[in-house]
Amino acid sequence: MKKFEVAVIPGDGIGKEVVPVSLKVLETVAEVHGGIKFDFQSFPWSSDYYVEHGKMMPDDGLKILKNFDSIFLGAIGNPALVQDHIALWGLLIKIRREFEQSINIRPAKYFKGLKSPLVNPNDFDLIVVRENSEGEYSEVGGRIHKGDDELAIQNAIFTKKGTERAMHYAFELAKKRRGHVTSATKSNGIFHSMPFWDEVFNEVKEEYQDVQTASYHIDALAAFFLTRPQIFDVIVASNLFGDILTDIGGAIMGSIGIAPAANINLNGKYPSMFEPVHGSAPDIVGKGIANPIGQIWTAKMMLDHFGEEELGSKLLDIIEDVTNDGIKTPDIGGTSSTEEVADEICRRLKKAV
Ligand code: NAI
Ligand code: MG
Repeated sequence: MKKFEVAVIPGDGIGKEVVPVSLKVLETVAEVHGGIKFDFQSFPWSSDYYVEHGKMMPDDGLKILKNFDSIFLGAIGNPALVQDHIALWGLLIKIRREFEQSINIRPAKYFKGLKSPLVNPNDFDLIVVRENSEGEYSEVGGRIHKGDDELAIQNAIFTKKGTERAMHYAFELAKKRRGHVTSATKSNGIFHSMPFWDEVFNEVKEEYQDVQTASYHIDALAAFFLTRPQIFDVIVASNLFGDILTDIGGAIMGSIGIAPAANINLNGKYPSMFEPVHGSAPDIVGKGIANPIGQIWTAKMMLDHFGEEELGSKLLDIIEDVTNDGIKTPDIGGTSSTEEVADEICRRLKKAV
């Protein structure tokens, strides 16, 4: 029996609604698998916790989390109680940074039963590997002078280590998928960092003779996400380019409520963190209509991370079938509740295995 210890942080708003039903799905996965077991430990760290304790999590919060196999997070943010930057930096971003979660991955695929805004979505199925620790989002630079002489310099940081790390991850992932990696570059316009990015990409791809590659400038690549998303398998991108591409990826799927994300620690020193893309959705909290698919899909990514890819893809097929059969929440045109969607997924999981 393989046992996985998972730290659960439902957080705020609909996080408290979509996380519990997703845990039920994971319990069902363990039940039908027979050889795995989840040990969930839940932590109430959130904006409510802040109101009571003056901080988003206890001082030894990271020390507690460090020992888990992974972190399963809902959403953080309740602007009525705590300012957003305090809430997010006090928990979510702290975990991402301190736990060296240097890669962010976000899949996007054409989902049966979901209306993509694309006229011809063409059955796309892609995943963006975004460098998550350096690149354009750096604190290096500064500002000087005031008034007309004011000047701002923002440096982008590309280390060989960080760049290679992201690219290796992308190639390894491609080997498990359709064997294709696209590099997002801009070496025609950005003079130093992007030619460097291309060089590293060309070096790394030599190690993966069985993987096909392509390289596009980010502007054209962004357009292709809309005009022919089906040509992509794995896309590797810098922090900024990846940020923009993943939002487009979410948008062409048709709803923010279904998009998942994973923050991956690659050095094995700390746990990785799995979370949906959406936030705490204060406008629908308490109504029982939050779409649980983003959270359940990130549970699927956690299964992949634990090496249970077969069950993971079975789970995703079931999610898609349930959606296609119209058992879906109002944000994607249905009338079902959060619970009903999750329960139906559990029922079909039991039937399928
Ligand atoms: P949001 O993602 O919470 O909501 C945007 C819109 O999408 C809302 O109309 C909401 O009802 C809808 N929506 C989101 N998730 C849904 C779901 N699962 N099912 C159905 N509809 C869904 O983004 P917003 O409103 O900008 O932010 C609300 C709070 O969440 C803020 O405090 C923000 O800082 C925080 N936030 C936290 C994130 C995180 O924890 N990773 C990410 C984004 C926002
Ligand atoms: Mg973004």
